[in-house]
Amino acid sequence: MSNHTATKSEPVTHFLTIKDCSRDQLDRIFDFAYKLRGQREQGVINDPILKGKTLGMFFEKPSLRTRVSFEQGMYELGGHAIVLGQNEVGLGKRESVADFTRVLNGMVHGIAARVYNHEHLREMAEHATVPVINMLSDISHPAQALADAMTIMDAFGRGLNGKHVVFVGDGNNVARSLAMICGKLGAAFTLASPPDYALEQAFADRVMAACPGMDFTMCHDPFQAVRYADAVYADTFVSMGQEEEKSKRLKTFKDFQVNEKLMAEAPDHAIVLHCLPAYRGVEITDAVMDGPQSRVFQQAHNRLHAQKGMLAVVMG
Ligand code: CP
Repeated sequence: MSNHTATKSEPVTHFLTIKDCSRDQLDRIFDFAYKLRGQREQGVINDPILKGKTLGMFFEKPSLRTRVSFEQGMYELGGHAIVLGQNEVGLGKRESVADFTRVLNGMVHGIAARVYNHEHLREMAEHATVPVINMLSDISHPAQALADAMTIMDAFGRGLNGKHVVFVGDGNNVARSLAMICGKLGAAFTLASPPDYALEQAFADRVMAACPGMDFTMCHDPFQAVRYADAVYADTFVSMGQEEEKSKRLKTFKDFQVNEKLMAEAPDHAIVLHCLPAYRGVEITDAVMDGPQSRVFQQAHNRLHAQKGMLAVVMG
């Protein structure tokens, strides 16, 4: 999380990337997440720690999990959410990013945004005196990474030291945030991608600077990569905004499907993750997604719990 002094008042804590979160902040998020989930599972209503607070949520792209988990999370913490789409806001067209932020800043207690361009989130953070929360950008998906880490902890315990997460597919925004949270929590991370779809060297350098000593690897052979995996992660080969590259990407990624043959190379205890939505039969098969190693729906549900933990820390 980054602390910016947007005005002369108190510094504000934003949630833009996992890189900006300290280990202590991540631990506090997960402490809250587990406590709040535990209460919910016992039928206990969470304390209304965000009572009287409103989160303004802006979506430039479609969403199911992110929208529902944030809106429901605010409700369960006693707060409120307002959802805005690009058709009504016209970010960068009808109104500048700065003016959008200045207006919301005086009316709500937090601004959450899903944008194509990560720079727009940075610009919001510059102009906001309330927290700005990243709900996915072209660069990163830190809210997803919280749920991913929580699901791995559910399987192996809170200490992820020495655990090995293998992401099979495109070095995309989800992979970046996952790699960074693995490093922060002491887990090893491998990306198995086609040669032209690895994570950029500048990002690898940032990970290693933020997480010195991390076991961070990139390779092009998924079968070798999963051999010592504790978690195997699949994601779409064609992200939102890449539709024009679809046929090329489907050809390039054909050997990177998470299927029964690949999982036969992984240890029996390895779990399977996917951030969803999944294109069944493309990046993951039905047999794996619905099989005994899959945790994908638990992972989707953890979006709610992990983000409530984050909202409690950032807005509470
Ligand atoms: N994983 C994820 O962010 O899902 P949505 O795009 O449905 O929000």
